[in-house]
Parts: sequence; structure tokens; C-alpha cells
Amino acid sequence: MQPASKANQRIARISAHLHPPNFQMEESSGLRHANCQAKGTAPGFKVAILGAAGGIGQPLAMLMKINLLVSVLHLYDVVNTPGVTADISHMDTVRGFREEALVVMDLVIIPAGVPRKPGMTRDDLFNINAGIVRTLCEGIVKSCPKAIVNLISNPVNSTVPIAAEVFKRAGTYDPKRMLGVTTLNVVRANTFVAEVLGLDPREVDVPVVGGHAGVTILLLLSQVKPPCSFTPQEIEYLISRIQNGGTEVVE
Ligand SMILES: NC(=O)c1ccc[n+]([C@@H]2O[C@H](COP(=O)([O-])OP(=O)(O)OC[C@H]3O[C@@H](n4cnc5c(N)ncnc54)[C@H](O)[C@@H]3O)[C@@H](O)[C@H]2O)c1
Repeated sequence: MQPASKANQRIARISAHLHPPNFQMEESSGLRHANCQAKGTAPGFKVAILGAAGGIGQPLAMLMKINLLVSVLHLYDVVNTPGVTADISHMDTVRGFREEALVVMDLVIIPAGVPRKPGMTRDDLFNINAGIVRTLCEGIVKSCPKAIVNLISNPVNSTVPIAAEVFKRAGTYDPKRMLGVTTLNVVRANTFVAEVLGLDPREVDVPVVGGHAGVTILLLLSQVKPPCSFTPQEIEYLISRIQNGGTEVVE
């Protein structure tokens, strides 16, 4: 390749970062696979974050940017995307990085929506976040129907079934590729059980099953590792603390 053509390619790459095309979900926007600068970059997970400018989205984008398994990271939000994208793109890690999304993605993570405010239940979020998740999933089934979809937007107990319905309607539903993020309950359980036992939380493993809201969060205290026993008062305290952990943060 001639030096001049190499230089032109470099300049095109830089200007593409500075002036990214406007992101639109619809294919009618002219967004095509060929437009994706990241195509042809190193192997690894191609990840999109929808809702990337929010309280969860920004640190999540940073974690994805330093994750060695991720080769391409696309960020999308309805506000502030250019600023957040510029900021995260200055990190000297993953190469393929753009302020657009959903082009041949392996994994789409969705923290888009509104969080709970004091006095609100997860059910109060439903009317707002259900519509947001549905619209975003309609974009995913058009652009990357085989991607793993990772729902963070609450109420997760309801946003996952909504997303599933969108994929079912499109004939592309695969339950193994649709996940609601509930690991927070495990993290809280490990922390609070470790406090009660006087152990390092990193040595404690508390299985939690069920859902991601109040009484649907089920702790399997009989299965805690290392094996241990609890008094009835401790059991009552732990169940209440973990099931209401989200409310504790909101308040
Ligand atoms: N599953 C979990 O463990 C867990 C943990 C924490 C928060 N959450 C949930 O995650 C969600 C986000 O929380 P947060 O604190 O980041 O809220 P936030 O308000 O700080 O951020 C939400 C972001 O979503 C964006 N957004 C709204 N509509 C959008 C759309 N149609 N397309 C793209 N982006 C859109 C907003 O512009 C905002 O930047 C909330 O629903 C919250 O309850 C879940």
C-alpha cells in the first residue's frame, strides 16, 4: 500500500471518530453493516450498550472498555452520547469504538430507562421502562437478532418477558440468549451473610434464585458455602435486608 493511501485511511478513521454518523435504529436510516468501522478488527465480543450515558451505563462502558474479551464497543443513548463516547474512547484499550450501535453485535446490554425514586416501587417503573425496552428490542431484532441480550432495566422480572415477546413475534427468540441481570442479589447476599458470619465476603458463596424484586428474591441459606447455620433472627434479618437491598439504596 502506498504511504499516501495509508495516511488517507488513517485520516478517514480519525474523522469517523470525530464526526460519527447519526445513530438511528432503523435500517431505513442508511446504517448498513458496511458502515461499521469496527468490522475486521480483532476477534472478541462485539458489545453494544443501550442507555450508555446513565448512572449504570457509564461505569459499565468503562468496564467493557477494559475487558480483554471485548474487541468492539458501541454506545447509544438518547442524551449525551457524543460526550460519553469521546470520554470513554480516550481510554487506551479496545480498538473498535463508536457512537452508534447494533451492527452485528454479539452482546447487547440494556441499562436504558429510568431508575426508581424514593416512594416508587419497581411496578411504578413498568409503564416507562417497558416501552423503552420494547422499542430497543425491536431495533435489536432488525439489526442483530442473534445477539445475546442482557437486560438491566427494571423491573427485570417484567422487562425480560417483554423483550422475549418482541423476539418471539419476530421468530428469533432463543431463551439461552436472553438474560435479566440479577447478580446484584448474589453480591448483596454474599456481603450481608459475610457480615453476619464475620467472614471475608470473597470467601462466601450464597446461591440466590427467583426474580429481582422483593419477595421474588429467594436466598438458599441452607446452601451457603462455607457450610454454616443461622439463628431464626439472623435468617429473618438476612432475608429482609437482601430482599429490600434496592429500596435501601433508593432511600
Ligand atoms: N438489574 C439490576 O441489577 C439493576 C441495577 C441497577 C439499576 N438497574 C436499572 O437500570 C436502569 C438504569 O439505571 P440508571 O441508574 O443508569 O438510570 P439513569 O437515569 O442514570 O440512566 C438511564 C439512561 O437511559 C437512557 N435512556 C432512556 N431512554 C432511552 C432510550 N429509549 N434509548 C436509549 N437510552 C435511553 C437515559 O437517557 C439515561 O442516560 C433503571 O431501570 C434501574 O432501575 C438495574
